[in-house]
Amino acid sequence: MRGIILAGGSGTRLRPLTQVLSKQLLPVFDKPLIYYPLSVLMLSGIRDILVISGPGHLDQYRALLGDGDRLGIRLAYAEQDRPRGIADALLIGRDFVGDEQVALVLGDNVFHGHDLAPLLREQVAKLSGATLFGYAVADPQRYGVAVLDGDGRLVDIEEKPRRPRSNLAVTGLYLYDNEALDHAARLAPSARGELEISDVNRRFVAEGRAQLVNLGRGTMWLDAGTHESLMEAANYVRVVQQRQGTRIACIEEVAYRMGALDRSGLHAAIESVGVTSDYGRYLRQVLDEH
Ligand code: G1P
Repeated sequence: MRGIILAGGSGTRLRPLTQVLSKQLLPVFDKPLIYYPLSVLMLSGIRDILVISGPGHLDQYRALLGDGDRLGIRLAYAEQDRPRGIADALLIGRDFVGDEQVALVLGDNVFHGHDLAPLLREQVAKLSGATLFGYAVADPQRYGVAVLDGDGRLVDIEEKPRRPRSNLAVTGLYLYDNEALDHAARLAPSARGELEISDVNRRFVAEGRAQLVNLGRGTMWLDAGTHESLMEAANYVRVVQQRQGTRIACIEEVAYRMGALDRSGLHAAIESVGVTSDYGRYLRQVLDEH
């Protein structure tokens, strides 16, 4: 399976923060936002990942993450010349994905929870069609919303409905088999001129090939696309990390624990971050403990 992180958009809602910086490079407490969705793909077992961003921003991602070698993974980059919607990532990523399955994640989505990694691996292993992840929220009208029948089966998805028919938001992590590329290629732009990911998902629903996995209360999901939600995400990360003495979305640690990095690889990563930061010292602790 191949992974795609969509870190595009012009971040207009966050200006002037995003006047020169890409939104997904903004800090969430102690690390750039993109570390969080990147760690989610890695925790799913994916090692080939395409980062898509807008003109003028790709070099910042390249400078931050490189070719993935220091994480024991392979990173590639592609440009989205202007925001055309989330499903456009499947068109841009077409050659990169080839005939494989694909996990698409939005660059501003933060997921965290104890059972998340095993859940994702299980869903990747049994994927057929589309697997979407639902999350109960207080404000579903801000999101794609899942409509379920009496037996809990996914029967429709409504994008930002004024009157949501459930409280289950469809999160920005999508697992697809290769057919998603064809569905995306056949899409027409929506009223707001974008290729909507909910339209791709609805095609899978119509074929009876979409399932919704409810992440449940034991998982945290945040879409850090506003000032408030960026602050919420930062506070969440700070509280959990400080209490537990662990780190969320520490990509070098994830790489090390999944076996993509060996001890000398982790050592090299520590050298490059340096131990003057808490982050670097945490990595050293991970190395020393194992
Ligand atoms: C997008 C999707 C929406 C999804 C959300 C998750 O909305 O269109 O279906 O629920 O991401 O973050 P956006 O954040 O682009 O408004």
